[in-house]
This record gives sequence, C-alpha cells and structure tokens, in this order.
Amino acid sequence: MTELNNIALKILEKGKGILAADESTGTMTKRLEGVNVISTPENRLLFRETLFSSSCMTKCIGGVILYDETIKQKNSKKIMIPELISKMGSYPGIKVDTGAKVLSGSPDEKITEGLDGLRERLKEYYQLGAKFTKWRGVYNISKNFPSKLSIHANANALARYSALVQECNMVPIVEPEVLMDGDHSADECYQKTSEVIKKCFEELILHKVDLKGIILKPNMILAGNKSNNKISGDEVAKLTLKCLKNSVPSEVPGIAFLSGGQSEKEATENLNLINKYNNTNFIMSYSYGRALQQSALKFWSKNIQNIEGTQKVFNHRAKMNTLAAQGKWSKDLEI
Ligand code: G3H
Repeated sequence: MTELNNIALKILEKGKGILAADESTGTMTKRLEGVNVISTPENRLLFRETLFSSSCMTKCIGGVILYDETIKQKNSKKIMIPELISKMGSYPGIKVDTGAKVLSGSPDEKITEGLDGLRERLKEYYQLGAKFTKWRGVYNISKNFPSKLSIHANANALARYSALVQECNMVPIVEPEVLMDGDHSADECYQKTSEVIKKCFEELILHKVDLKGIILKPNMILAGNKSNNKISGDEVAKLTLKCLKNSVPSEVPGIAFLSGGQSEKEATENLNLINKYNNTNFIMSYSYGRALQQSALKFWSKNIQNIEGTQKVFNHRAKMNTLAAQGKWSKDLEI
C-alpha cells in the first residue's frame, strides 16, 4: 500500500492540486451553453485538451479528474488523453460514480450510485492509465438534513467504493460534499460536516480501507449562500481546520478541497488562509472544478481557437492556487 500513499503524496506535492474536469456531459453542456458554445464531443475535448496541455500542468496540477468520455478520447495529435496528462507530468484520474439519485426513505435527499459493476469498470480505467478515482456524496443542510439515513447510506457507499478502488491499485478520492445552498449558519455547516466526515471514516475503517492511500475532498466550512451571517476568511479557515482536525484520522496524507460555488478568488483566498493557520499534519490543497476553469472558459468561449490566450488565463489561476496551497498567495498577485 506504500505505492498508493506515494501516489497520493505525489499528486499533492509542493503545493500541487487537482483539476476537477470530470463534469458529466449534462453538466458540461450547461457550462458550455452558459457561454454560448455548442456542446459537441469535439468542443468538450478542445476546451479540456487546451487546459491539459497548459504549462502549469507540470508544476501546479498533480492530478486531473476526467469523465468517462474524456478518458477514452484522443487529442488533435492522436495522443490518448491520459497519456497527454502523464506526459505533462500529472496523474490522470477518473470519476467513477454515476451520479446522485433520490434516496428512497428520504426523497428530498440524494444517494450516490455506481457500485454495480464497479469492479469491472475500475479494471478498464486502470488499463486506460487512471491512477486515482473520485466518488462524490452530496448532502444538503436544513433543519432536519442531512438525515442519519443519508449520512449513513452515503458513507457506506463511499467506503465500498474506496475498498474496490484500492483493490484495483488506485487512490480513491473520498468526496463528501455538504452543499453551500441555503441560509444555514457557518456553525451549522461545521456541525453537519463534522458528523458527515466522522461517519465516512467509521465506514472506511470498517471496510478496511488503507487511510494512507486515500485523499479526502471535503467542503470548506462556510455559511450558506443565502445566509445573512457570512463569516470572514479568517473564520472560514479556523473553523475548517478545527473540523478536520477533530474528524479526520492522522493517517490520511492529504486533503484537497472542492470549491463548491465559491468564486475563483474566494476559493484561493480561503485556501491560502487555511494554509497560513494550518496546525495539522495534513497537506491542504485544492481539487477545484469551477474555481479553476471559470475565467479560462469565459475567455475561450470568445474565440475557441485562441489556445495560447486561454492557457494563459488557466496558468494564472493554477499558479494562484498552488501558491495558496503553500500559504504564499497574496491579493496583489492577482491580475
Ligand atoms: O465534485 C465536484 C467537483 O469535482 C469539484 O467542483 O470545485 O466546482 O465544486 P467544484
């Protein structure tokens, strides 16, 4: 299992983080149509290939999470996408859940599916070059949610997934995302996120997952996006660290946050503060989707052949986050 620990550490070494480019075709279509680009397999590939061949891949991006469509595609020079990512000095990874569906027994909540046939799919992804995987459980906060049922069911699925992934020699990213939607306070987010993460580790341990060979991908502790009681970046960092210190076993090598709807700069600033105050032994880095791609996508949509210009925008964002993952970012570095 040292091999898995080494991969996890390599992905997050020296401030490197993860590019989450694993949007399902439905989500990617929404993103592309949002900037008036038609969502064809060619356009999805062109945007993603542009990012994956950017110079920041070597020093900033330790891993890229792909979607099933992309891991099987070739770039314009006929190189398989996982090979391109490896050549750039990064690790290819793959999202393996099949999405969040209505949770029977608590129909206003979700359970993530994808365990059926997973062992066989994992073998295929491993053959295609994947070194790590992702599975995302989602939880909403309201007076009665997340329910015990959703906390238990999602933790169980995350643990069963992780055990299968390690059996196939890949590093599972364990992503329990407590959503930011709603008017809840940061304290409620803290309480619920702590409960969710603790349950995940209870199940991971029960399923004999080697905690040294996983990466945790949690949300930061924030007030809901409709809350009138937003907290400062300092408070976000301190609450996030307190939550993780109390709920994550020390064997876990690294934590890579999701951005979850924060703006690009907010996600960078909060990560920077987390690293400034980091009083744990965990590496604290990023696994951002929107917070790494938003500006690049907007720029690219104006002229989808402007590869160099798009890469410049993406390189900047990746560099800012890699500095933040070392507590070395400051506002005046932004352009
Ligand atoms: O599962 C969620 C994505 O991998 C991260 O996306 O940073 O836009 O929340 P996000």
